[in-house]
Amino acid sequence: MNNEQWPISKRFSASACGKITLFGEHAVVYGRPAIAVPVTQVRATATVEPGEHGLIIRAADIDRSVAVVPRTSIDSLATIVNLTLEHLNCPPPDLEITIRSTIPIASGLGSGAAVSTAIVRALAQWFGARLDDAEVNALVYEVEKLYHGTPSGIDNTVIAYQQPVYFIRGEAIQTFGVARPFKVAIGNTGVASPTKIAVGDVRRGWEIDRARYEAWFDRIGAIVQQARSAIESGANDRLGPLMDQNQVLLRDLDVSSVELERLIFAARQAGASGAKLVGGGRGGNMIALVNDRNVEAVAAALKDAGAVDVMVTEIG
Ligand code: MEV
Repeated sequence: MNNEQWPISKRFSASACGKITLFGEHAVVYGRPAIAVPVTQVRATATVEPGEHGLIIRAADIDRSVAVVPRTSIDSLATIVNLTLEHLNCPPPDLEITIRSTIPIASGLGSGAAVSTAIVRALAQWFGARLDDAEVNALVYEVEKLYHGTPSGIDNTVIAYQQPVYFIRGEAIQTFGVARPFKVAIGNTGVASPTKIAVGDVRRGWEIDRARYEAWFDRIGAIVQQARSAIESGANDRLGPLMDQNQVLLRDLDVSSVELERLIFAARQAGASGAKLVGGGRGGNMIALVNDRNVEAVAAALKDAGAVDVMVTEIG
């Protein structure tokens, strides 16, 4: 395609939020339910503008550029671009796509799915196409499957729809009402931990001792159901103990870490009524249930215990 077609000022940006899994990570890969919510304070943004020689993606924050070759899948960024162009039935134009993100990489906040979602939306805008959330979700899930092991699909779903979801793999998404809003503090260990590795290790454990892992997954699934009914009925005081129970099982699955446990302990000592890791674990982020009385103390305790970043997000 010839760049002279594009007015030089043509430029489109789209963004996508991060996410946290409140309850049910890992077990969700094995068909149990999980609850995830968007985190709108952090976002990935893709900007599309005219380029000169082919299609280049620049990941500005990590100083990396990728030249997109049609119908190849050299990496996840090139793959989502190619899948989107095929879906839109558009030949690869001369374009530059710049990615910026405030979502920490490999930390359980959905950075990969958010970057893919932003790219799909920005490219669709460039071509004047309207994609609904389900189409965006399906495209991003293809990339998640190629590059992130055996994902359940929860990350792409909560990010593409940008709404809280009660998610069961392979089923239509369910949303739920939050009777009384609640807050969680999100503490980042600063330890990058790709979800794919933790998910792969859990799978190896499951292959060796299916009965034991299935029993753990069942118990996590039961916690998720109780959490949903607590959220829907406004029984927020039940959520802290449910987070603690979920964390015990995540520890059993061997996806916690010294750094996560340190932050979880510090949050509880400072008054949080429950805390757990989020996402794949082994590093990345944890959450603690807080209220207006203890939020500042919990945030300070997380920082003192080594959190490289602390955010507070309200759900509901
Ligand atoms: C989801 O945020 C984290 C995992 O459950 C992986 C997945 O569901 O794809 C660990």
